[in-house]
Amino acid sequence: MTDLRTDLTWDLHDLPDQTGRRTLVTGCTVGGLGFHVALELARRGGSVVLSGRTSSRLDEAVTAIEREVPGADTATLVVDLADLTSVRGAATEAAAYGPIHCLVNNAGVMATPPRRTVDGFDLQLATNHLGPFLLTGLLLPQLVESGDGRVMAVSSLMHRVANAAPVDDPRAPATRHYQRWQTYARTKLANLLFTFELDRRLRHADLPVVATAAHPGYAGTHLVVNGQTGGLGGPVASIVHGANRAVSQSAADGALPLLMAATADIPGSTYCGPGGFRELRGLPRLVGCSRRARDEHLQARLWEVSEQAVGLAWP
Ligand SMILES: NC(=O)c1ccc[n+]([C@@H]2O[C@H](COP(=O)([O-])OP(=O)(O)OC[C@H]3O[C@@H](n4cnc5c(N)ncnc54)[C@H](OP(=O)(O)O)[C@@H]3O)[C@@H](O)[C@H]2O)c1
Repeated sequence: MTDLRTDLTWDLHDLPDQTGRRTLVTGCTVGGLGFHVALELARRGGSVVLSGRTSSRLDEAVTAIEREVPGADTATLVVDLADLTSVRGAATEAAAYGPIHCLVNNAGVMATPPRRTVDGFDLQLATNHLGPFLLTGLLLPQLVESGDGRVMAVSSLMHRVANAAPVDDPRAPATRHYQRWQTYARTKLANLLFTFELDRRLRHADLPVVATAAHPGYAGTHLVVNGQTGGLGGPVASIVHGANRAVSQSAADGALPLLMAATADIPGSTYCGPGGFRELRGLPRLVGCSRRARDEHLQARLWEVSEQAVGLAWP
């Protein structure tokens, strides 16, 4: 294992050859972070499973990758992470892929209006944490089978804003005072709590899998529009989207910390993010996280709550 200095940055030239490695990336819509992760892995010869909730968007992403990388080794896997039955179905389908070297839990929604899923969870918590928690648990045997597995979570600078971790009963009735941004921040805190707890459990179980995390800074993707306007199109969405793109770094640049966390020779529990001004942009490096994210009691509590919520005890 290389001793990676915290002041060193990483860029695409450092992305290792991916021949013989299979990565499953969730949330691969063209223009988003997951798409750029999938594209660069395919460019390096990796086998990439593009996963997401909208079949036509996955097909578009495959077409766009094939345009850039003729003969790319891609497959698609439809999953709605906000629906536990869909997650279980997708995991069953994914068994056909055999060993998976890396799972990039990238898909997410941000600051959506209050909504409960078919399983009775808050939509943001289900999509950003509980669905990925179940998917990861179900794919663990394939990650282990690879002999060198990695699970990568996509968190956010917003995790620092969370004033509590989502460790209460996730099926408890919603309060009338739903705070969409605070709810998002808590799910992004959950991504880090999950990563650190998972990595520790993998070590205890002596399994050949590590867990890492990354955040993209502020990148111009569909995230803002999807959250603020509920994914609807129209002039308001176009204006929000345009303004967002004007002040953010590109989705391709935002994907670099994710690629670093997914492929660099770094230990488990490492967190990567942009190295520039306030971690909003720039080439990736190792970054820190909030004290709350490092709280081992919260990590363990979230794990217990999540296991009960999804009905799977693992590893
Ligand atoms: N952009 C930023 O500045 C920023 C900052 C911090 C963290 N992040 C994180 O980065 C990740 C990727 O976001 P992004 O910025 O690339 O946004 P994006 O372009 O909106 O991508 C989100 C992806 O998640 C998919 N998705 C949403 N709900 C899903 C569900 N229920 N099941 C399966 N897939 C679902 C979307 O699919 P559809 O296209 O079908 O809706 C889309 O492919 C998120 O976890 C987000 O929290 C982004």
